[in-house]
Amino acid sequence: FSTSPAVAGAIKHVTVIGGGLMGSGIAQVAAATGHNVVMVDQTDDILSKSKAAIQKSLGRVAKKKFADDGERQSSFVADVMGRIQLNTDPVDAAKSTDLVVEAIVENLDVKKKLFSALDEAAPQHTIFASNTSSLPIRDIAESTNRLDRFGGLHFFNPVPMMKLVEVVKIPETSNETFERLVQLGKAMGKTTVDCKDTPGFIVNRLLVPYMMEAVRMLERGDASARDIDTAMKLGAGYPMGPFELADYVGLDTTKFIIDGWSKKYPDVQIFQESPYVNKLVADGKLGKKTGEGFYKYDKK
Ligand code: NAI
Repeated sequence: FSTSPAVAGAIKHVTVIGGGLMGSGIAQVAAATGHNVVMVDQTDDILSKSKAAIQKSLGRVAKKKFADDGERQSSFVADVMGRIQLNTDPVDAAKSTDLVVEAIVENLDVKKKLFSALDEAAPQHTIFASNTSSLPIRDIAESTNRLDRFGGLHFFNPVPMMKLVEVVKIPETSNETFERLVQLGKAMGKTTVDCKDTPGFIVNRLLVPYMMEAVRMLERGDASARDIDTAMKLGAGYPMGPFELADYVGLDTTKFIIDGWSKKYPDVQIFQESPYVNKLVADGKLGKKTGEGFYKYDKK
């Protein structure tokens, strides 16, 4: 990989911090598209579970890619896994990388602490990006001295399946940094869209208030959840209704985002919380993952 801004070309080496749902997906896709990857998490135990999840997911990809050829399937998986290294020390991992993508817990102070430590260790040319869903990128970036080399790379769950990456620019992000982030998104096989550092970027800014408006219709007794879902699927052509979608995303995640926005923007009506969602979350009914949210699900 490149060692100075003057020769900085395409991003070849990617460090992913956080090996959870999103981090392991990002690491998988980056490695599958030929990048050398270091995946970082807090313990060896978490990392070995993430690694196993990636291996399993790659197995499914390989089966589709090389239908009847077991040998090619195995060599594809081995090849991609060979490009993923594991590390429990983010500062050590940042010492030689082109890009750090952060996908750790959604907490501003924790993210700032991490980036501030990485800023000391990473080479000059290294770009920092956060995968945050709800925090302003600028607030995270201010913990570093590389605002021109900082941006957002917002992937979607599940990362190997979802084709979009929102590439987010803070006012200080340089054109070169932004271009390199866009190029990386494309090199990872995704379609990229450009967005300013605004709450929810594009997708969540529209989707979260839409889901909350559907809940408010239900709270007022305007229509049932089932009928609202049916209406949006058949009348608007959406693949899922708002309640099916909220259950899929997780009501805790939706609540977390809306709580943050309602605190920050108390005057924006569509950003306000809902007593119904609050009650479901308090009762542990978080959606599909817990077997119940707006709907009940069969547990496998
Ligand atoms: P997760 O809880 O599945 O994974 C987070 C991982 O980060 C855990 O494995 C945890 O051990 C690790 N971690 C926490 N603090 C750390 C630290 N200081 N250093 C190293 N590792 C640390 O969370 P998930 O869902 O993967 O979300 C991660 C980020 O991605 C969040 O910022 C979230 O807002 C964002 N995001 C989540 C999406 C989703 O659908 N879950 C979609 C798009 C973005």
